[in-house]
Amino acid sequence: MTERVLLVGGGGREHAIARAVAASDRDVALYACASNRNPGIGGVAAGYETLDETDPDAVVEFAERVEASLAVIGPEAPLAEGVADALDDAGVYAFGPGREAARIETDKAWQRRFMREEGIPGTPEFETFEDSAAAAEYVETVAGDVAVKPTGLTGGKGVRVTGDQVTKAEAADYVRESGYDDWVVEERLVGEEFTVQAFVANGSVRPTPGVQDHKRAYEGDEGPNTGGMGSYSDAGPVLPFMTREDYDRAVEILEATVDALPDYAGVLYGQFMLTADGPKVVEFNARFGDPEAMNTLPVLETDFVDVLTAARDGDSLPELSFAPRATVCKYAVPAGYPTDPEAGTRVRIDPESAGEARLFYASVDQRDDGLYTTTSRSFAVVGVGETIAEAETIAGDALAAAGEEGLRARHDVGTADLIQRRIDHVRELRGS
Ligand code: AMP
Ligand code: GLY
Repeated sequence: MTERVLLVGGGGREHAIARAVAASDRDVALYACASNRNPGIGGVAAGYETLDETDPDAVVEFAERVEASLAVIGPEAPLAEGVADALDDAGVYAFGPGREAARIETDKAWQRRFMREEGIPGTPEFETFEDSAAAAEYVETVAGDVAVKPTGLTGGKGVRVTGDQVTKAEAADYVRESGYDDWVVEERLVGEEFTVQAFVANGSVRPTPGVQDHKRAYEGDEGPNTGGMGSYSDAGPVLPFMTREDYDRAVEILEATVDALPDYAGVLYGQFMLTADGPKVVEFNARFGDPEAMNTLPVLETDFVDVLTAARDGDSLPELSFAPRATVCKYAVPAGYPTDPEAGTRVRIDPESAGEARLFYASVDQRDDGLYTTTSRSFAVVGVGETIAEAETIAGDALAAAGEEGLRARHDVGTADLIQRRIDHVRELRGS
């Protein structure tokens, strides 16, 4: 029987998911729907509909039309709008949590309270507020540095950290003036960030290798936060600046979280800060990371569709196997991104000119004479190699082939210098 897989979402992450589905040894047909037309997904899909991917009725209508036998939801916005619930109600199994469980990502106040109530290890000190004036006053009076977070989704761009990006007075002004009512104010965590994503369903938790994303817009971790400029993983689960024990602690936190959410199905993404006291939870997401999916899925050796069908059929998930390869992912973004992005540059890279690198399209505009940038991240190149250095060279060569005009990237992602700084940082924190 042909497995008819519906993919919701049209970014780089979803292009990686589309490839993982298309690479299955099983008899599969992929159908995609998204608010944009991603040419990479279009190239492997049997059908593609542009629709509002956050509209449950529109997604269900397409799922029924193509007789989808299961669905994978890439981005958070459809989860927040109940697209997984609507698909389930229509009899189409959705790999992705329903709106309630997705609050672990979509409602940061709920997430922190849940962690405290369930005694999840790695929970930072926090307070929640439903009034921006009270939150701002707290920021001004509390001892120590804090992170201030609007409780809802902000595309990774809503958080400000004192002592790092802003002073406490600036953070208090930001809380007062940015128009949100609901806030989490929590202790500033100091250390190195890393991500562990796990496939979760029917009580199984199957972790994937650690990845480090780069949220700051500019080289050397300068500038505003973005959705993520690039990321790397090593030829094993552990990143160069951490120990196996640190990774295992992070996995234990994910397992404790799923114990408290037994019906959770989908990807549980843990963003951790490796502090002097071990991993602490920066946040959870209810989906793959973008860019992190582009590190993880290309080295997944287990058939991705087997994971999805086991989840649907109520079975425990297969143990995962990963190629022992390092990966480096670099996003090319429009010049001026994220503050003043300039759209409309011709994209001069295609799968052939990307050389050894894998090319994942994100937000590009298909015109009669080719692809053009929009105001969001344009495309990513991923090197896969024996070492991070080898993977970095492959990704860097592909960026060079794409040309710089109208585009920008963080060339430092995955470089030996930057990684050494991470290692030194953790050594210094641990006093070793
Ligand atoms: P979030 O939207 O929660 O992922 O936060 C975005 C970014 O803000 C994170 O990736 C961190 O770099 C930073 N951040 C969030 N919470 C904290 C915290 N408690 N301490 C330090 N940095 C934080
Ligand atoms: N790379 C961060 C995220 O997907 O939220």
